[in-house]
Amino acid sequence: MKVAVVGCGYVGLVSGIGLASIGHEVVGIEADQGRRDRISAGSPPFYEPGLRELLRSELERGSFRVSGELRLTAEADVVLLAVQTPAGADGAIDLSYLAGAASAVSDAFAADPKRQRVVAVRSTVVPGTVDGVLAPIFGPEVAVASNPEFLREGTAVQDFLHPDRVVVGCRETWGREALAELYAPFGASLFLTPPATAELAKYTSNAFLATLVSFSNEIAHVCESLPQADVEDVLGILHADRRLSSSSETGEGRPEILSYLKAGCGFGGSCLPKDLSALIAAGELHGHDLSLLRAVRTVNEGQAARVVASARDALGGLGRTRVAVLGVAFKAGTDDLRASPGLRIVDECLEQGASVVIYDPLVSDRALDEYTERGSVETADTLEAALAGADACIITTNAPEIAALGELLEGGGYPELVVVDGRRVLDADRFDDETQLAVGRARVTPLADHAPLH
Ligand code: UGA
Repeated sequence: MKVAVVGCGYVGLVSGIGLASIGHEVVGIEADQGRRDRISAGSPPFYEPGLRELLRSELERGSFRVSGELRLTAEADVVLLAVQTPAGADGAIDLSYLAGAASAVSDAFAADPKRQRVVAVRSTVVPGTVDGVLAPIFGPEVAVASNPEFLREGTAVQDFLHPDRVVVGCRETWGREALAELYAPFGASLFLTPPATAELAKYTSNAFLATLVSFSNEIAHVCESLPQADVEDVLGILHADRRLSSSSETGEGRPEILSYLKAGCGFGGSCLPKDLSALIAAGELHGHDLSLLRAVRTVNEGQAARVVASARDALGGLGRTRVAVLGVAFKAGTDDLRASPGLRIVDECLEQGASVVIYDPLVSDRALDEYTERGSVETADTLEAALAGADACIITTNAPEIAALGELLEGGGYPELVVVDGRRVLDADRFDDETQLAVGRARVTPLADHAPLH
């Protein structure tokens, strides 16, 4: 099929190249000349494993190309809209880019107004967007659909090429059929729904992941008051429930969802926090107070401060201390700093008077200019360099380079260093003294010092 993808950002580029790789003829429409040049030269403008290779092979085969000409959408059977849907000041979604792109596509269609076409939204949008905002922009010969993506940064190419579900929210039969045909080579479960169901399903998925993380962190808070309860053990027992796990003793085939049932520094990234807020705002618009989801957000917003408080309490205050923050990307395997818990931890340390040294194996110094130019923040190229002269270190992601801290500590080289394991990557049994702290584990102090929990 002939496909046009409007917006060659993260979602658009992965979708466009992925569709090209399964036999479609794809043009990516991108307004930014610099970005177009990079893509045409075979260099994706962001890091994603496997994407560069796939881009190069599809450019070579001629199945994918990039252009700035929106009028090319008129030649496509299916147009995918993958432009940004940022959060507005009140957390509600800003649909102006999407509506602008849809209007431009509608203008392009005027060249051949009678042709039946399909326009599908890949961007995450609140329920009612297709029916209330986008469909009215087009004439009746255009089927407008919600076709949300479920890609994770770091595994986006694999996620696209091996989808667990394809969701098509569309009223028109021909629109459903065209999108079913587009994704047919994947053989994935296909959900054909009204647009609002598809739109809400995407938010529901991300809100669910966010809920698991905040739930785990809330259980961690309780564990921190109970000297003999460790959140890793508590949640480990939950994981073993056969309704959540496979019966395999080795843990192989362990449902991936269990990794969200883990205490840490809170969730971040460009999707979970934004989508949670957009869903809460959309609920309010319809007169619903989504109190559970508001609590999920509140727990998340407080988590960085809780993690920093462990270091502060152990050091008796952070003023004039040096804290190494190990990991600032929002998760391991990416250099993405958007809504990163690691950066919240940096901010919190600075507010409390510490100077900060940041080590993150994937994040470039340039990306941290805004921090380092302020003073009080430096970057380090190695774990050892970050720890040199530090009073405390806080682990914020489970990158293997950071988990290597375990071996350094075992070597006994940092007897005075306060370690806060904010991602539970260190083996708790091996680091059992006053300077080794972890999310979801009480500080090691005599039992009598702790009040029982009522
Ligand atoms: C998330 C969803 O996982 C995707 O299904 C969805 O398509 C995407 O948002 C989107 O809406 O576009 P992503 O933002 O890449 O994908 O990040 P995740 O890997 O889900 O991580 C989100 C947060 O959860 C991170 O802060 C991460 O540290 C945390 N997380 C992630 C965990 O706590 N445990 C994990 O196993 C993975």
